[in-house]
Order: sequence, then structure tokens, then C-alpha cells
Amino acid sequence: MNQDIEASPSPKKQFSNVTVCSRFRPLNSKERKDHGGQVCVCRIDDETFVFKDEKEEESTFSFDKVFYEDSLQADVYEFIALPIVRDAVNGVNGTIITYGQTGAGKTYSMEGPNVLESDDMKKGLLPRVVDGLFEHLASAGDSIKYKITLSMVEIYMEKVRDLFDLSKDNLVIKQNKDHEMLVSGVTEIHLSDTGEALQNLHAGIQNRAVGETQMNLASSRSHCAYIFTVQPVSTRDRGRTGKLVLVDLAGSEKVEKTGAEGKLLEEAKTINKSLSALGNVINALTCSSSKSNHIPYRDSKLTRLLQDALGGNSRTALICCCSPSTSNSSETFSTLRFGTRAKHIKTSPTAKRIIDEETGARWNALDVPAKEESGERTLAEVKLIPTVKPIDHASDAPKKDDHHGRILAKLRERLDDEDVNLLEELLILEGMLFDPSAEGVRIP
Ligand SMILES: Nc1ncnc2c1ncn2[C@@H]1O[C@H](COP(=O)(O)OP(=O)(O)OP(=O)(O)O)[C@@H](O)[C@H]1O
Ligand SMILES: [Mg+2]
Repeated sequence: MNQDIEASPSPKKQFSNVTVCSRFRPLNSKERKDHGGQVCVCRIDDETFVFKDEKEEESTFSFDKVFYEDSLQADVYEFIALPIVRDAVNGVNGTIITYGQTGAGKTYSMEGPNVLESDDMKKGLLPRVVDGLFEHLASAGDSIKYKITLSMVEIYMEKVRDLFDLSKDNLVIKQNKDHEMLVSGVTEIHLSDTGEALQNLHAGIQNRAVGETQMNLASSRSHCAYIFTVQPVSTRDRGRTGKLVLVDLAGSEKVEKTGAEGKLLEEAKTINKSLSALGNVINALTCSSSKSNHIPYRDSKLTRLLQDALGGNSRTALICCCSPSTSNSSETFSTLRFGTRAKHIKTSPTAKRIIDEETGARWNALDVPAKEESGERTLAEVKLIPTVKPIDHASDAPKKDDHHGRILAKLRERLDDEDVNLLEELLILEGMLFDPSAEGVRIP
């Protein structure tokens, strides 16, 4: 049987804020030795391949791009990261996530053999992103000065740890008043050149939790987020800060394969649980028949951290890393299904949020009074924000929702954001308020 997973309609014709790619690493020596080098993937072209499961049943998968075993690290960077780096320099937020089974090549794609690697064939996304950021800023000339900062956190055993300051071992993820997710109190390091950036990345990575399993000698035991902010410091453009977040997830694992016991086993359970929460969020975002419009971002720290990336407030790219070996075909199939699902996260056409410098008032681009559009007033910030639209409830939303929104905005001025968010969630659960994340940009 040949099942067409993503062939019709072509993913390229769908408007989505998530670019989804799959990447197959080369077979490793164990897979060659134990399984005679048999593979479960048959290449059709750069976007499509046939996958064969254990029962020899075939499915055709299509993604925005498929990187096979012979793919180059530079190709992965150019297709996935370069456009997002350019956007970040122009004040548009971006996120790049590596996802997949343990040992599938997530950390290799992100770092290369290590982040200080200088061999251009091996260098991973992180050092290339650093190069790209500094190159773009240099080409802007002397007229605009930028400030780049870096924060690094890991989610280990459901706690958010600051990799630049290990005393901060339980940081809180919350939304700021513009509904952007941030890690409260995280260390921000100012980067002045690529050398300094790489040294800091290297230092932070040394603090990340890594363990040895039967599937991977250096298995990431935490989800790690590298958060770059690019802020112009010249007067005219000072509002357009771009945030670029790279997320190297811990891998899903079958305990019987990794041989995890004791601490490794506890880590594996926590990792698998948070990855299930991520799957649930993707399902909720893409399931139009869902009874409620609630997206369970709060079910794990990981989904909370990725709320912007999945909820539409970011250009997002997902790299689904896979083993090509038949011995891992069920895990590979599940990774590919995850990617297919993520591709169906829909967005509405790009919306602009404009903040008036004098009054602090905010509009959607469509609501901006003509006077402001004609440029009579200084607009301090014009950001492109794609918005997710899993179910189009926005037009049906009752008038009283505006009223609740105003009350929440007032509460937000007086209370901690986290408390207001809880109250907001309660209102959503009680059916008194529509889920703002489902409506995309929310103007309080
Ligand atoms: N594209 C590739 N080319 C060459 N070697 C690779 C590639 N991808 C992965 N590897 C090698 O495979 C091994 C496992 O890769 P990696 O550590 O990146 O897996 P992972 O997905 O991060 O796993 P975990 O979830 O356990 O952290 C490493 O030794 C790595 O060097
Ligand atoms: Mg890893």
C-alpha cells in the first residue's frame, strides 16, 4: 500500500508560518553492523521521499526540504536559518527547532561536532548563525549601530536553568505586556564579535546536562534554548528588536533501546512527557474539529517557552532529525508524522502591530487611522507578526470579550503577569473568553 502523507495539496501552496524540513543523518556503525545498513527511506527528490515501515508498507512524505545523508551543514543553514537571521536583523522574531529521536542528529545539526569547530564542512547552525548575524550587521554600515545579546537556558527535569548562572535554577517563563514570551531574570550577555559569541556559547554548552546512553554517547538530557536579541541602538529604529531563538530539544527515547536506569530513566520520562505536551499543542493548533479552542501551552515548560514560535508570533523552522536505519523506522515514522502535523499549523496573512510613540496606543495595521498611515505621526515600532488561526472564532467573538480584555489589561498593570495569565486561562476554560493565542495578535 502506498499512502500519500503530504502530497496533496502541495505543502508549498499552503500558507504556514512553520517551515518544516526533515534531515537524515548517515547510518552509524552499530546500524551498519546489526542491520546490514538497510534503510527505510527512498529518495524521490529534494522535497519528497518514500518511507517503508517494518511491514514494508510505503508512505510518501513531502516537506519544504529534505536533507539526505549526503547533505551539507552549509545547505541546512542556507535554507533554514539564513532567511530567519535576515528577519531577526530587521526586527522580526524567529525560531529554529531541532526535533527527533535520541541520536538522530539534533545537536549535531545545531552545534556541529562542537560549537568551536572551524571546519566548514562540519560547522553547525549556531556558529553559522553567529557569523550571519555579525555579517548582516557589518553590512548595515556605520549609520545604524546594533546591540546583540545572548541568553542560554535549559529545561532540565521541568526546571528552567540559566546556563550562564547556575544559581538561577528555576526561572519563570512569562508573557510581557506585548504577549511575547520571556524568561524572567535570565542572564543576558552582550556580544561584540563572533569570537566572543562562540566562547560564550561554548561556556554555556559546557553547563548543559548530557548523559551517556546505549543510543548516544553524548545524549542531551535537557531542552536547550539559545536566545539572541538584535536591537538597533540608533534613535530612529530603536523599537525594532528582533529575537532569534534556536532550540535543541532532548530526544524522544524508548527506554528498552537506550537502557536508561536510575537518573537517566527519570530524565527520559520527563523528556518524553514534555515532548508529548509539545505534540498535544501541535494537535490542538491543527485540529479544527477540537471542541474547545484551548491550546495547552501551560502543560509543560517547553510548550510555554515555544508559545511564540508555535502561536504565530515568530517565523519558525522545524528540523525533523531522523535515523535512516530500518532498526529505527517506527521512531522515524513518528518524527515524520510530527513534522507533517506541524506543517499544518496555519497562519493568517501577516499582520502589523503599530505602537504610537506619543500615546502608547496600539493598532492592528488594518485599524490604523488614515492620518497615522500617511506618516503624520512617528511610529516607534512596526513589527511583522504572522498570526495563527487554528479555528476562525475571531469574527464570532462576543462583544463582552472586548470588555474582559480591557479588564485583563488593567489587571496586568497592577498584578504579576503570571497571575493575570492564570485568571485569563480560567475565563477561557469557563467559556467566558476566547483564547487570545488562537486569535493571533491580541490588542489589549
Ligand atoms: N549529519 C551527520 N553527519 C555526521 N554525523 C552525525 C550527523 N548527525 C549526527 N551525527 C552523529 O550522530 C551522533 C548522535 O548525534 P546527536 O548527538 O546530534 O543526536 P541527538 O539527536 O542530539 O541525540 P539526543 O537526543 O540523545 O541528544 C553523534 O555522534 C553525531 O556526531
Ligand atoms: Mg542532543
